[in-house]
Amino acid sequence: MYEGEVAAAPRPLTLRDGRPAMAAWTLDARRRHLNHGSFGAVPRVAQERQNALRAEMERAPVAWFPALPGRMAATRAAVAAHLRTDSADLALVPNASAGVSVVYAALAARPGADILVTDHGYGAVTMGAQRLAARWGTGVRTARVPLAADAEQAYQAVMAEIDDDVTLIVLDQITSATARLMPAERVGVEAARRGITLLVDGAHAPGLLAAPLDGLVCDAWVGNLHKWGCAPRGTAALVARGPLRGDLHPLIDSWGAAEPFPDRFDHQGTLDATGCLAAPTALDFIDDTWGWDTARRYMDELADYGAQVVAAAFGRTGTPVDPDPVDVGMPVPGMRLVRLPEGLGTSRVAADALRDRATAELGVEAAFTSFDGLGYLRLSAHVYNTPEDYEYFAETCVPVVEKWARA
Ligand SMILES: Cc1ncc(COP(=O)(O)O)c(C=O)c1O
Repeated sequence: MYEGEVAAAPRPLTLRDGRPAMAAWTLDARRRHLNHGSFGAVPRVAQERQNALRAEMERAPVAWFPALPGRMAATRAAVAAHLRTDSADLALVPNASAGVSVVYAALAARPGADILVTDHGYGAVTMGAQRLAARWGTGVRTARVPLAADAEQAYQAVMAEIDDDVTLIVLDQITSATARLMPAERVGVEAARRGITLLVDGAHAPGLLAAPLDGLVCDAWVGNLHKWGCAPRGTAALVARGPLRGDLHPLIDSWGAAEPFPDRFDHQGTLDATGCLAAPTALDFIDDTWGWDTARRYMDELADYGAQVVAAAFGRTGTPVDPDPVDVGMPVPGMRLVRLPEGLGTSRVAADALRDRATAELGVEAAFTSFDGLGYLRLSAHVYNTPEDYEYFAETCVPVVEKWARA
């Protein structure tokens, strides 16, 4: 939108009994929760399911653990159905980082061949690529994708760094700091044509994209269910359909070692997997209450509204910031960027410090990010958020953040 204009606010979602959606969560009502994207938030019903599973485990551990791989396989099937992919291609891992680590560990050394990442890559995943490159005695190239690049421009920016020396591409499907899509499908087609291994980091994709693996050609994909899927933490999927499957082993090498992918990931030693087993409860809760398509539509409309309200508030403070949400070229449902006043969030460390300060001083859980030396507020919207959350931030927090910039 245009020079501080604000679209109509969507009507808040309610539960079947008419209570606000937030009543299904246990989030602290004294705080504003505007950062679902970082760590998710688990609805009460899924917490209760996990608690019940834990109680069952504690009642009879010897009955619990031998039966666990079978229950993991059933969970895998439910997660795969949600992602609209085949459970025979999907392994459960504790988080996206674990999935990425599994892939990095599986790749045989390719000395002299480079790894390609982008400047939007998730820091920890990129650091892993750098360590992998150091082990291989090779280098990491970084494709620079302008923040506002559309699909074609982003694709060309990635392609500009590719030649016969690139052996591995690590590409986000949805970026973290910049809340945008990357042209993973198109890059996948070209990577396959050139015989380059492609790892797609879809950490944010489950819940935000209806079918994140549809039409995606890649060697491996990771996605967190504990972000937008609202599953208890420790629930992520690692999907592999090609020959790399044979080399993928869980980080915790256990009794499943001799089994094929993905079955061997159902065995991870003596581990509390109750969060993972409760994941389908969270996915089903949203599906049964609103349907995921409706939920996504609401999240998207609310993110639009919230970002417009907050950007307009920053715009009114008189500092040279953008009165409109940031154009990220390929936006995702549920997350938006707003430019921070000049001087704030100019590095990741500075942005993290703002997050901590907002938590402590504003009673707001918010994500502050940094890209290319500029600071952003990354707003999330999930089903439990309402327009009032962003209006509150605009009226109460923006003037304080503005003061931080001037201090
Ligand atoms: C793009 C991306 N990749 C990877 C991760 C890591 O996820 P986890 O901490 O669950 O391993 C995140 C987390 O925010 C992310 O946004």
